[in-house]
Amino acid sequence: METVLVVGATGNIGVSVIRGALNSGRNVLAIVRSQASADKLVRYIGSAEGITFVEANVAADDGVQDVVDKVRAGQLPAFQHVYSCVGGEYITTLLPEITTERLHSNMNLQFEAAFFAYRATIPYLLSQPNAATWTVCTGSQGDIGTHALPAMTQGALFSFATAAARETAETNVRFNEVYLAFRVLYDDVAVAQGVTKASDFVPVYEAILAREEIRSARVWVETVEDIKAIRFTCKF
Ligand SMILES: NC(=O)c1ccc[n+]([C@@H]2O[C@H](COP(=O)([O-])OP(=O)(O)OC[C@H]3O[C@@H](n4cnc5c(N)ncnc54)[C@H](OP(=O)(O)O)[C@@H]3O)[C@@H](O)[C@H]2O)c1
Repeated sequence: METVLVVGATGNIGVSVIRGALNSGRNVLAIVRSQASADKLVRYIGSAEGITFVEANVAADDGVQDVVDKVRAGQLPAFQHVYSCVGGEYITTLLPEITTERLHSNMNLQFEAAFFAYRATIPYLLSQPNAATWTVCTGSQGDIGTHALPAMTQGALFSFATAAARETAETNVRFNEVYLAFRVLYDDVAVAQGVTKASDFVPVYEAILAREEIRSARVWVETVEDIKAIRFTCKF
């Protein structure tokens, strides 16, 4: 059975991705930063069945690399798919008021964590004989800019995704970017705030896993209708 490595597994997008992976008959290797985060994940998924937990610091440059090393050593399950969705702050702080510390911590979580995860996992996936996928979730804030800090981190992620889509275009790894233009939150929080539930976002990842023609693409999720319609265009 295939396994999906999820980086940012315990977040809003992470729980949706895990549901999609489990629904598609795959297991999950979930990177968590603490037992409390693992417990939160199980609460949202409803069960730990099919999920292997591993603690690592995804914000550190060698956090995911340590996980890959353990996979190569046979201490953790082999994986064929990666999803990266580590989150930072979703705030409206104006540009002149963003402290250097805040800028660094958000670039670290929202951008560097995806880059570190890619750098650690892609050599492993490319060395495998099987078909593989690598997916990153970005946000339309990178274009809209109403929330300056998350906007800047998304801009960097767009460029990362374009380069990764090019580098993997002719390989066994289908790299894709999910471009999300509205709020998707844990189900209970979403109901309270009147936005889209993580469980309603599940079909997007199910489609990416299932459809081989989705490759080196941006998957446009600009309206809730797009969750089922699955619109995508090549990243370059
Ligand atoms: N949710 C949306 O509506 C939406 C819309 C557009 C784009 N996106 C993009 O999708 C990505 C994920 O968003 P999200 O809403 O799922 O994010 P999130 O719920 O805030 O967090 C996602 C993950 O990041 C982890 N994390 C946060 N701070 C950390 C830290 N200091 N060290 C280690 N791990 C940390 C969280 O772990 P813990 O559970 O342990 O805190 C969680 O697993 C982001 O890049 C975001 O811009 C999201």
